[in-house]
Amino acid sequence: MNLQPTTLQKIDEVITHYPVKRSATLPLLHLVQEDLGWISPEAMEWIAAKLELQPINIYEVVTFYPMFRQKPIGRRHIKVCRTLSCALTGGYKVCAEFQKQFGSQPGAVSADGEVTIDFVECLASCGTGPVVMIDDDLHVKVDLARAQQLSAQIKAGAKARSTP
Ligand code: FES
Repeated sequence: MNLQPTTLQKIDEVITHYPVKRSATLPLLHLVQEDLGWISPEAMEWIAAKLELQPINIYEVVTFYPMFRQKPIGRRHIKVCRTLSCALTGGYKVCAEFQKQFGSQPGAVSADGEVTIDFVECLASCGTGPVVMIDDDLHVKVDLARAQQLSAQIKAGAKARSTP
């Protein structure tokens, strides 16, 4: 499995925090998803071996919690808040604008592999909606013009990467 060395270090450290290895299942799943963007079948097997469990034990946890992804995501991850404050300030329109810009449905990877757009619960900045998180960056008061601008930046980044 292709985990970053820092993720591997964190994983080894987290396991030491628990008297029973099995208890580290959720933190490990979070760390792996943070690194890979999703929990692949291979990752489930790897975590199971690491925690001396059976893959089915990990699979059960992954399928129980909706925050764990069982499919790969795009290179960039756009999360648009759909909770009340953001919904009242235009979150739905903003999400629709991102979908239009990239021609993709929430949760699906765009055809070019560049983005996954998710419509998510509160991003903890409720007074500044609509709130959008792109990878690790929080963007507040994102109106349609700002959504277009952010989309253009992502497209420009993708173009720059593909130009030799
Ligand atoms: S309601 Fe959108 S950030 Fe909390």
